[in-house]
Amino acid sequence: MLYEAERQQIVDTCLEMAAKGLVVGTAGNVSIRVGEHVVMSPSAVPYETMTAADVAVVDMDGKQLEGNYKPSSECPLHLSVYKATDAGAITHNHAPASTALGLVVDEIPISHYYSAMFGGAIRVAPYATFGTDELASNVTNALNGRLGALMANHGAITIGKDLPAALDKLPYLEYICEIELRALWTGRAVKVLTDEQMAEASEGIKGYTAHAANEG
Ligand code: 13P
Repeated sequence: MLYEAERQQIVDTCLEMAAKGLVVGTAGNVSIRVGEHVVMSPSAVPYETMTAADVAVVDMDGKQLEGNYKPSSECPLHLSVYKATDAGAITHNHAPASTALGLVVDEIPISHYYSAMFGGAIRVAPYATFGTDELASNVTNALNGRLGALMANHGAITIGKDLPAALDKLPYLEYICEIELRALWTGRAVKVLTDEQMAEASEGIKGYTAHAANEG
């Protein structure tokens, strides 16, 4: 079996997303880039019963090489992001706060300095039908220079150098959205950070993650 370790990592990550409450049912998908191939969660297969053999392997044109089931319906989205970035992995979900906030803003206001983890203000990709090239293009554009984006009327996406890095960002994105929503619910003006404050936060975040990496 091609890429057995990576395929098991996909299964484990799907289970972890479910355990952490980051997905509803099979409403999400994950992938890892391995050279010119992509290892991707299968479409509509329940995470509890998914095995490594079920996980799909596709080439950069979307041709399936292995896997008991067809790849995620968001295969065009994953491939488009890999072609446009140096990401090594992608996670996508439909968590409530990120999905809700994507219904009311075009960009998440920088109300929390954690936006710096994502490279700046997090954009909302315009809606297009799931699984389409149009959605793939909208989301790829929204991710330009960022490690995460919201998808209007749909969900959220994060990318990283590897699968743990991409998965690590998902709860932070959900948290940022939850905070913004709660602040909006008050009806009061929401304080946002200045460019200077964000630049300082970005420097601090780099040191913070480097420190964690050294300890890891
Ligand atoms: P898949 O099960 O095909 O990955 O679809 C779930 C989804 O999130 C579509 O956006």
